[in-house]
Amino acid sequence: MSEKIYTDYLIIGSGVAGLRAAIELGIKGRVLVVTKDLPTESSTEYAQGGVAVALSDEDEIGIHFEDTIKAGDGLCNEEAVKVLVSEGPERIIELINWGAEFDKEGSKLAFTLEAAHSRKRILHAHGDSTGREIERVLINKVSTLKNVKKASFTMAVDLIVKEGKCIGAFLLKGKEIIKCFSKATILATGGAGQIYSRTTNPKVCTGDGMAMAFRMGVYLKDMEFVQFHPTALYAPGIPAFLLSEAMRGEGARLKNIHGEEFMKNYHPLGELAPRDVVSRSIISEMVKTNSTHVYLDMTHLDENFLKNRFPTIYSTCLRFNFDITKQPIPVSPAAHFIMGGVETDINGKTNIEGLFAAGEVACTGVHGANRLASNSLLEGLVYGYRAAHGAIEYVEGSQFDNTLFHVSTLEPDKQYIEYSEINKMREELRQTMWEKAGVIRCGESLGIARTKITSIYEKVTERFFIDPLAIELKNMTTVGLLITEAALARKNSVGAHYRTDYKEKLPGWEKHLRIRKTETGFEVF
Ligand code: FAD
Ligand code: SIN
Repeated sequence: MSEKIYTDYLIIGSGVAGLRAAIELGIKGRVLVVTKDLPTESSTEYAQGGVAVALSDEDEIGIHFEDTIKAGDGLCNEEAVKVLVSEGPERIIELINWGAEFDKEGSKLAFTLEAAHSRKRILHAHGDSTGREIERVLINKVSTLKNVKKASFTMAVDLIVKEGKCIGAFLLKGKEIIKCFSKATILATGGAGQIYSRTTNPKVCTGDGMAMAFRMGVYLKDMEFVQFHPTALYAPGIPAFLLSEAMRGEGARLKNIHGEEFMKNYHPLGELAPRDVVSRSIISEMVKTNSTHVYLDMTHLDENFLKNRFPTIYSTCLRFNFDITKQPIPVSPAAHFIMGGVETDINGKTNIEGLFAAGEVACTGVHGANRLASNSLLEGLVYGYRAAHGAIEYVEGSQFDNTLFHVSTLEPDKQYIEYSEINKMREELRQTMWEKAGVIRCGESLGIARTKITSIYEKVTERFFIDPLAIELKNMTTVGLLITEAALARKNSVGAHYRTDYKEKLPGWEKHLRIRKTETGFEVF
């Protein structure tokens, strides 16, 4: 018999989106925020470059809107972008009032430039620790709300859906499964970078929310659009640590292994071209020079400026024996962000009643086919807030049927899988995704990925594990397969999705692809 708990609002994930939602919900009812690791372990915590917001004297909301639309390469949901850029300033000012210390020049906020922004509009904190500052402030604010309870090292395993309504989730705490019943549930589980062998994402980013939602019949959208960050540290045996785009914003140059600058050969904006263009240009240069990497060179910039502006990057690189002030740093692209995810409207609503999603797990369409740099912390703030209000409206507006909580739910089977087996399948999945469904794809490579991933999927998908690594493997395999299927179905190149066998935007490219589960598997529609 597993334990049962009850709450008004269940939030899964404690990054920027989940915490921002919790702050709104804490004044409306009982809230439980569950998170599968330490409360701070999230992409949010590691975000470096900053948060984009039209607050500087030289900027306008309309220009931020245009830059976002342009980066999205024709596939943004304009309504969602309008919401992001127009509500963003309020969310940031509020954060500053709660104690966020963004860097300043004199008494004024300091704004920097990143790729594809036509204005300096990126706020940053402690140089390159913007995410940590935002996470700190949100955690502090949440801890003042007595209605909000936090449960760390508590992993959501599956959603509980009864009579077409989401009424909570199965949670795993230690070896125990807890049935958590809630009137509304918000998925804020972040991205899925770990499905690629080279990624900037922390270990928790295994696509759990997308996979859980998919299993319950929720529609996923735009899954083929994965953003690869151009500049992650490249050295054998060393993690793909991010070297922020803000470095290029401050003047760092990309050079090939012969020391030649190359970005102007690919795009008039050079180092500040959109991210997908820079990533593909780097790959092309690596192929031309038969090399595993290129270099990011900032040695022409002032040493003290670099140490002060990028203290975390400076000290982390130094730990790996690279001094950014003295030598060009080997870099190559790495999986960084997923534009697709759980389809929601601009209030976080999914196609299942009672289920909402916000942040990287969600797809409002705000990023289109390619996210504008530093728009996702803002997305977490704006859409975390909005999903909370969507949930409040749902709970307060519906005659909530508490008897649903008494409907018996299936007890999960407790099945085990050997660690060595899990690790083998996990590594095969990650390598396959990187090699066959990565920065540059084609029908043939994606076909190979489909075959390999399907064989893992068939081994894990019908099983209800109670081991976190096995659960993650199941989720990663599901998301990997859905990305591959969407990438196969999109027979054109748009934004971050680039196929060598369909290099252009061919007729029909404007159509978004959705995926849903069917009796026999899934359907792309
Ligand atoms: P996250 O912050 O990733 O939080 C997800 C949460 O869900 C975590 O707490 C996780 O533990 C939890 N979780 C996951 N699965 C489960 C489960 N099954 N059960 C319970 N809990 C679960 N964006 C910018 O705008 N500016 C930047 O400068 C920037 N820099 C970045 C640098 C790096 C290295 C990375 C990786 C990303 C960066 N991004 C940046 C992207 C941005 O950080 C993320 O898109 C954003 O923080 C996502 O927020 P989130 O709340 O949706 O998810
Ligand atoms: C970076 O600092 O380069 C990351 C910014 C982002 O992902 O938006």
